[in-house]
Amino acid sequence: MKESTLADLTSTEDSSLSKLVSLLADLSTLVQQRIPKELGYSGGVNVYGEKQLEIDVWSNELFTKKLLRSGLVRRVASEEMEDVAESKSGEYSVVLDPLDGSSNLKSNNLLGTIVGVYHDKSLPAKGRDLLAAMYFLYGPFLQLVLALKDGVRLSAAAGTGVGSRRFVSDGQIHKLPRPPTVYGIGGLRDKWTPTVRQFVEGLEKRKLSLRYGGSFVGDYNQVLARGGFFAYPELIDAPQGKYRLQFESNPLAFITEKAGGRASMGTGNILDVEPTSIVQRVPTYLGDPDLVQDFQTLYRSKGQAA
Ligand code: AHG
Ligand code: MN
Ligand code: MN
Repeated sequence: MKESTLADLTSTEDSSLSKLVSLLADLSTLVQQRIPKELGYSGGVNVYGEKQLEIDVWSNELFTKKLLRSGLVRRVASEEMEDVAESKSGEYSVVLDPLDGSSNLKSNNLLGTIVGVYHDKSLPAKGRDLLAAMYFLYGPFLQLVLALKDGVRLSAAAGTGVGSRRFVSDGQIHKLPRPPTVYGIGGLRDKWTPTVRQFVEGLEKRKLSLRYGGSFVGDYNQVLARGGFFAYPELIDAPQGKYRLQFESNPLAFITEKAGGRASMGTGNILDVEPTSIVQRVPTYLGDPDLVQDFQTLYRSKGQAA
């Protein structure tokens, strides 16, 4: 099979989007190189009161500055910034979790970068309006999962080029495998609602294997690769769950739907949630369409509010 490059994967898109994906891929290789060098703490905290690792701050500045100076991006919203950062030109709006799962750094577990791309939409934006979404997974190999209008393709920094030219792919459209075989659920078990607990018992009866490593991108990627169900659910003490709609749930929901799956917040699709603020959180249930449908049916039968 002929090896595809990133340019091949984005050849059906506007050249400006192709350039944006290539820039993001260049930057991901810099993050991958930086990870082993940055194990300190910056001492800062982000808007959620979460202690910012030095590399959270560093990667946010890297992506934000380079994107706004590229001439391609008009505005960037990031999990690590209180406000939307703007430039004077560019046709794209970008939402960003520059380093997802950063608490995994010291234990050398999986980390990722999540990106959503809109065509000149103000932020916060509705997930249904996404033009593209992707994540970079910093694992045994640097992987890019890229969802464009025609579907999801997987690529890896395994080639001989420099930066984005390292990424190679089989160019094939990737769909969630069926039947589902793995699942992961975030949050403390004793904070799960009875509905989530009941649903998990059903997954175990179906012999799905538990996979939970503490990074959304790392855990979700197992579902994308093997088929299954992943959730950071509403919790008894956090009815909106943990994930940020703009930076985590919408981009991964877009990827999930493009891969033939479903993405629910309990009563409806994540991508249809009206944006109310940059920091808005949503309960997040993703993966195999039948499993997510089953969850949504159970959730509604319990009469739980949105
Ligand atoms: P981030 O590092 O971007 O703040 O994201 C962390 C998130 C997500 O990656 C992961 O699934 C979740 O936090 C883990 O939460 P728990 O520590 O509660 O399991
Ligand atoms: Mn995150
Ligand atoms: Mn993050």
